[in-house]
Amino acid sequence: MATSSQSLVAFGQQHVTKGLGRLTEAVMSKGEGSYVSFEDGRRMLDFSCGIGVTNLGHCHPKVSRAAADQCMNLVHGQCSISFHGPYLRLIEKLLPIMPDPSLDSFFVWTSGSEAIEASLKMARMITGRQNIITMQGGYHGRTFGAMAVTKSKTSYSEGQFPLMPGVFAIPFPYWHQFGLPPSTSESELVRQALYQLDLVLKQQTAPRDTAAMLIEPVLGEGGYVQAPAPFLQGLREVCDKHGILLIVDEVQSGFGRTGKYFNIEYSNVRPDIMTMAKGLANGFPLSVVVSRKELTDKLKPGSLGGTYAGNAVSCAAAVAVANAFREEQVLENVGARSKELIATLSSLRSDPDVGSSIVDVRGQGLMVAVEFASPLYSAHDPALDLSAPKNLATRVAKRCMEKGLLILTTSVYEVIRFIPPLNISEDDLKKGCEIFAASLKEVVREG
Ligand SMILES: Cc1ncc(COP(=O)(O)O)c(C=O)c1O
Repeated sequence: MATSSQSLVAFGQQHVTKGLGRLTEAVMSKGEGSYVSFEDGRRMLDFSCGIGVTNLGHCHPKVSRAAADQCMNLVHGQCSISFHGPYLRLIEKLLPIMPDPSLDSFFVWTSGSEAIEASLKMARMITGRQNIITMQGGYHGRTFGAMAVTKSKTSYSEGQFPLMPGVFAIPFPYWHQFGLPPSTSESELVRQALYQLDLVLKQQTAPRDTAAMLIEPVLGEGGYVQAPAPFLQGLREVCDKHGILLIVDEVQSGFGRTGKYFNIEYSNVRPDIMTMAKGLANGFPLSVVVSRKELTDKLKPGSLGGTYAGNAVSCAAAVAVANAFREEQVLENVGARSKELIATLSSLRSDPDVGSSIVDVRGQGLMVAVEFASPLYSAHDPALDLSAPKNLATRVAKRCMEKGLLILTTSVYEVIRFIPPLNISEDDLKKGCEIFAASLKEVVREG
């Protein structure tokens, strides 16, 4: 087995499938709070959280302890054989924080994609209808059903057609998607998107054939765009009118990421089905699909399941996460750090060196994005700026990494996403913002 850092990387390059992309050719060896270390000796401030997962920081002591203790008690309490304690204790923790009290029937699985698969299956079984309306720009995973409802990048489904049939996409109220300028009012975007929904229901999938509408309340891989409350309320109304189920995907936006337990709380809209994962167990693989008992009672026993579904160690970790949220006032920290982050990023818009390169600063809580101008946008896109530097997002993210900050891009646009740990300190947040600003200035100067 290879030992030196360089030979380990070479070993990985030889034997790990090319189907995986990677941000950096390095070997991660340790995670501690807001920092990760690599075999080559580098230590980086982590604003990626393993794509929005280690939201309480790497190896949170109480979460890791709960998992370790559970390992010595029961690792695999298979969910189709019997209940197990951590599964039930997790539900007990989740019930009081659901965005609507009607959400009282849980299925626990392993990954976000699996939760989406289950939600689609449930919607079909509950309504007896086939079709799903999804959002342009939406990301829901890479398995076959999840891939079919994912419309954020063709790279996820290229070469895979035919996908699961019966999927229809409407535009998300994001100015790019209508070829409108960034200054377009929210009400206009909502009007346009709801109008397209009306048309799809008249021209492509009749309401009586439509099982569900699926939406991320914050478009994640589509560019970190909050769905306006009136849009979500509009979807709810149409769903109610036609007996269509509303599936809200909180896999990325859930569990405190945007300053409330679930982003859908900002609009007061009731999901019929909601999915969550990522921050739920702070790195232990776990996802949850929740709905109403009245609906899930229509499912046949055995229609849901999975060998590893609701793993006991992951459930125990998730219980510890829920406890830490309360004991450590995590949501309060998100609120305070969010104001600092948004203020710092917004101030760059008036910076004479980089201001003209920034098209938008947006987000809520600690799910925040900066979008740059680009000379590579479509000729029809009003955000096209031929004088802007090329590939700003990727270049800035790379420069940040060289300076010790792990940060991710997102979407087909030039967007950098900020998803630092929810319990990050004021100093570390400031340090990350300084690295970002310095990197941006350097890259813009280079043109
Ligand atoms: C909103 C959303 N849904 C679903 C998924 C899929 O989750 P997983 O990668 O765990 O399968 C993701 C992953 O990024 C996501 O962001």
